Amino acid sequence: MAILSIRIIGDPVLRTVADPVTEFGPELAKLVSDMTETMEDVDGAGLAAPQIGVSQRVFTYRIGGVEGHIINPVLENSDDFQPDEVEGCLSIPGLAFPVRRRRTTRATGVDMNGNPVSVEAEGMLARCFQHETDHLDGILFTDRLEGEDRKTALRAIRAANYHSVTERTTAKRANTVGSSFGSFGAAE
Ligand code: NI
Repeated sequence: MAILSIRIIGDPVLRTVADPVTEFGPELAKLVSDMTETMEDVDGAGLAAPQIGVSQRVFTYRIGGVEGHIINPVLENSDDFQPDEVEGCLSIPGLAFPVRRRRTTRATGVDMNGNPVSVEAEGMLARCFQHETDHLDGILFTDRLEGEDRKTALRAIRAANYHSVTERTTAKRANTVGSSFGSFGAAE
């Protein structure tokens, strides 16, 4: 297994619609295993493959002690929304804002062996699934902000000049400890 470095906003892979996984073998198993280890290392709640530079439809998650991965996920969201909660993202270090998400979702897909997976989710898990699936479509949580929060976030992203501080934020992120949803990204 290996700890992978995380791509930061500005990297085109984060804005690319990821390809469906078609090959199930040792390479995919290694990807899932490395992503899981990386997610645990940074105490993240979830990680999508584009975040480690792989444009394939894979994400891992770790919410409230429940850990797993879904490949080629399809979400069936409820029409209604859950109360806004603060999200961060490992690919946008230091930023955290409340995000509007659907109340529940059912994620269906397959696991690394190609076996069908179906997970009913509410609360933080539903939020995580929506955040990670967005990554597979090239969408970041800041895209979902509105009004003042959106302006503030875009200003902060411009000011942060992320591409030049990747090394530093990676080191900082590795030291971040937290179990809240905010640890999706280092919300500090
Ligand atoms: Ni993220």
